[in-house]
Amino acid sequence: LCNWCSYAGADLAGVSRIQYPTNIRIIRVMCSGRVDPVILLETLINGADGVLVTGCHPGDCHYIVGNLHAERKLRMLNKLIALTGLEQGRLRLEWVSASEGARFADLVKEFTGQIRKLGPSPISSENPNSNLLENMLAAQMAAASFRLRILVGREKSLVEEGNVYGERLSQEEFDEVMDDAVTNEYLRSKIYLMVKKEPLSVKELSKRLDLDSREALRHIV
Ligand code: FES
Repeated sequence: LCNWCSYAGADLAGVSRIQYPTNIRIIRVMCSGRVDPVILLETLINGADGVLVTGCHPGDCHYIVGNLHAERKLRMLNKLIALTGLEQGRLRLEWVSASEGARFADLVKEFTGQIRKLGPSPISSENPNSNLLENMLAAQMAAASFRLRILVGREKSLVEEGNVYGERLSQEEFDEVMDDAVTNEYLRSKIYLMVKKEPLSVKELSKRLDLDSREALRHIV
């Protein structure tokens, strides 16, 4: 929860004695924009069944655009998570203002209900799904990569202001670049983790990743 809106909203829910599930663990950060995608993935890898990030409504962020940064980070992260095979819906971003105590309580109720329907995280049980866990570690490595960090940080300027030559990308063009980068970084991290465990030929890698062998070779190169 961001300090300036959502945490105050949660506080209001508390002082107004509005009931909400107690199995959430609140972490206060100064702004939703400061939540690093790598930490969100680490939280899921370490066994959290779901993560809800909340910040000020657009236009209300104490740091002007921190919540818009959070939105871009989460959008990229959900694309990465989709590649791992972990169910969608375990990670969510919402806006809660300081005066929305009741909304905060409703949101927590609704989110915990959604997570309950999905069940416990498949990587938090005693026998975690090792393939899924490896995929999540690959996603974490990809999220930490220079390329994805730069792309997320430069989205606004590339789409709204353009590059040093004054060339602007349309949102669709940027999304295409981002989708491509997310897939490439994920596959490269996955290959790195696979060959760290045991030596594998390009042919074996392409079979296990269900990739064309030329494509697998391209990633290795
Ligand atoms: Fe609340 Fe930035 S301070 S989202």
